Amino acid sequence: MNITILYGHPFNKSFNKAILDQVTSHLKSRGADVKVKDLIETSFNPTMGIDDLAAKVTKVLPEEIVKEQEDLLWTDAFVIISPLWWGGFPAVIKGYIDRVFTTGLLRSSQGEYGLKGKRAYTIFTTGSSEDYVRISRQIDMIYATNDNLFGFAEFSDAEIQIFYAVPRITQERREALLLEANKFVDRIFDLKPGEGGSLINSPARQALAFDLAKH
Ligand SMILES: Cc1cc2nc3c(=O)[nH]c(=O)nc-3n(C[C@H](O)[C@H](O)[C@H](O)COP(=O)(O)O)c2cc1C
Repeated sequence: MNITILYGHPFNKSFNKAILDQVTSHLKSRGADVKVKDLIETSFNPTMGIDDLAAKVTKVLPEEIVKEQEDLLWTDAFVIISPLWWGGFPAVIKGYIDRVFTTGLLRSSQGEYGLKGKRAYTIFTTGSSEDYVRISRQIDMIYATNDNLFGFAEFSDAEIQIFYAVPRITQERREALLLEANKFVDRIFDLKPGEGGSLINSPARQALAFDLAKH
């Protein structure tokens, strides 16, 4: 199993870093081949430039993006470990998605889906309580982004695990959550594609089908 972890937290004593370390070694212990994309450590440039946009016409993507796309194609399952910042991913992760998940890769002009059938498992940590995240509709933002990105890309599954209010939890609770993170990524091995978090009838898929039928 080839797994890529996307990670973009700047503080190496953060809870996100603890999750990253734990999940990486757990996935390896289950026999996975794991690539960690630490976007801060590697100074990934998250800003979409003119060369990225021009590639639609020139078909020549910046070299670092070509390399990242090769890794995407290698990957069976993506794990994203991210704090919730303003209802979504930190800019460096969002920028990675903008630049690397290009529409040309996701859907070729012949209508082929380059990433079809892959799976995504996102772990978010929040500062706010579950009630806040729900009432403020941040929860809708999280699920809508997940569906629009991975549903559009024809992934088979995209699941989310949220750990709430982590700055206010005890050390014991942190340790329990780290074990929950392991269990969450165990789903990559223990479920078949389409068995957990299936995107088959997701709103973005329905919208896409509607659009294609109409236009
Ligand atoms: C720029 C920024 C924006 C944030 N926005 C949110 C938010 O929209 N919702 C939320 O629940 N927490 C928000 N937080 C709190 C973080 O999600 C929280 O501190 C983090 O998940 C804790 O994990 P860590 O210790 O690994 O950083 C924000 C924090 C920062 C720095």
